[in-house]
Amino acid sequence: MERTLVIIKPDAINRDLAGEVIQRFEKKGLKIAGMKMAHLEACTLKEHYAHHKDKAFYEELINFMSSVPSILLVLEGKAACAVVRKMVGSTLGREAEPGTIRGDYSVSNQCNVVHASENVEIAEHFFDFYTPENKKAC
Ligand code: CMP
Repeated sequence: MERTLVIIKPDAINRDLAGEVIQRFEKKGLKIAGMKMAHLEACTLKEHYAHHKDKAFYEELINFMSSVPSILLVLEGKAACAVVRKMVGSTLGREAEPGTIRGDYSVSNQCNVVHASENVEIAEHFFDFYTPENKKAC
């Protein structure tokens, strides 16, 4: 069975959408294999989003993601990565298809409710990355 990582972002927490988002995944048939709330630190997020470091929105993204705690969710199911990415929708809220999580709950580029791992390799990397024992000092 495949597992993927979803981060329920600060905008979803501020708007009390976490329950609805989790319920969508559960109703689809994905199992919650792990869940924790964590206030992600800027240094951790800089590493997570290092591939965006040259983008104009990078600093704002780090500030937004470290503004309040997020929920880290491990979801398990057949083809979990692809299924979750399809349910989440395309990155920019305004462009995401209605019926997807971003399409239904976001009109923002930055505040797009959830982050979901692109594929199994990236998900596995982040399971380790977000395990406290593996945390390197920033
Ligand atoms: P995520 O899937 O977490 O991956 C990178 C994040 O950067 C993305 O969701 C958005 O939160 C943010 N992002 C991507 N594109 C833009 C943009 N054009 N302007 C602002 N934020 C963006």
